Amino acid sequence: MTTSDKSANANAAVSARHAHVIGWGMAVPETAMTNDDLSAFVDTSDDWIYARTGIKQRFIANEGESTATLAYLAAQQALEVADILPTDLDLVVVATSTAENIFPSTASLVQDWLNAHEAGAFDLSAACSGFVYAMNMAADSIRAGSIDSALVIGAETMSRILDWQDRSTCILFGDGAGAVVLQANETPGGVLSSVLRSDGAGGDLLAIPSVGSIDANQSRAGANGYKLYKMYMAGGEVFKFATRVVSESVEQACKLADINVEDINLVIPHQANLRILQAAARKLGIDSDKFMSNVERYGNTSAASIPIALCEAIEERRIQNKDHIALVGFGGGLTWASMVIRWGIPKPSEQHGSLLNRQRRHVQYRIAKWRSRSRRWRRRVNSRVRDLQS
Ligand code: COA
Repeated sequence: MTTSDKSANANAAVSARHAHVIGWGMAVPETAMTNDDLSAFVDTSDDWIYARTGIKQRFIANEGESTATLAYLAAQQALEVADILPTDLDLVVVATSTAENIFPSTASLVQDWLNAHEAGAFDLSAACSGFVYAMNMAADSIRAGSIDSALVIGAETMSRILDWQDRSTCILFGDGAGAVVLQANETPGGVLSSVLRSDGAGGDLLAIPSVGSIDANQSRAGANGYKLYKMYMAGGEVFKFATRVVSESVEQACKLADINVEDINLVIPHQANLRILQAAARKLGIDSDKFMSNVERYGNTSAASIPIALCEAIEERRIQNKDHIALVGFGGGLTWASMVIRWGIPKPSEQHGSLLNRQRRHVQYRIAKWRSRSRRWRRRVNSRVRDLQS
């Protein structure tokens, strides 16, 4: 049985429950950095960056902002649109390459800050493909019946792992977060298909040597000329890889969803470089107008770029009910992933954000702070009491 057959069977087997996107939100840091700002301390220019990448500016986190704080803001917005309570969530997944810690996961921090105390939480590492991987995990869990609602977030502070002396990488990336709420429903549609792929042989083309066995990584980093905790990239090779896999995997995801590429109303690709997107559109034989692009304003925000672009596409009314949209990510690993969604929000009421629910959510956010503090305080008291008793 081929992989496509297996995926098609898996899709058919769980068709009674469908995973629909019912909420979305995004957040970026307060401070934007333009190409001119960059060229004040890096040997580059606005003309070079814009011509080669389509990027004009990116947002850079300040001291008080982090992957988790951006993820939390995007998550709050997504819950607002979905009009559900944090306690309704069964799962929080954060796709990121710039997690707050190795553990606790960034997802656990967000889960705690939201007061989503009925939810499991974990981070997912698949670089810039991470959001599509996370959507696939959450949608499959919903369709299999193990959960009803999931908060899927892509969040990054790429500025913290950039080598600001390397002009071939530091000009490309930015910080931000995007989130969606996925929920089970009997209405056909939502996530129709997904294709996940990896080629670990290309792991040396795009890397952040860091966590894990530090000693081993230190010698690997030295041997390859990598700097520990800083991104390394073979730009030209990554460019060729990206243009190839975007078109291939969108075609595969369409086939699995039993639609033609021409049926896709909007492709929401990972926002790495405008030239990659234009080349991929040509390869797919579809109009580049059908490729969502906002790389000009945000740069490459890695796992956050697809949900941020999705939010802007919705805001710009580029997605209508019953549209087919394709998400496609690619990046370090190497990894790539595509997903086809039939858009449609099966909600009893089209009235987003009822006042009562909004108030209940805000009460829960307040409770979250006190709940965390009181649990820590209780643990400390209990351990002190145990010490005194022994
Ligand atoms: N400003 C000015 N000049 C720069 C520069 C910068 N920021 N970065 C590189 N250059 C110079 C190079 O030193 C080189 O100079 P030389 O000809 O004198 O040696 C010249 O520009 C061309 O460099 P090159 O690397 O061949 O440029 P390119 O056209 O391949 O563009 C990238 C470089 C990084 C923009 C391009 O390869 C790319 O976008 N790759 C994909 C990266 C990506 O999307 N990664 C993330 C995937 S998730």
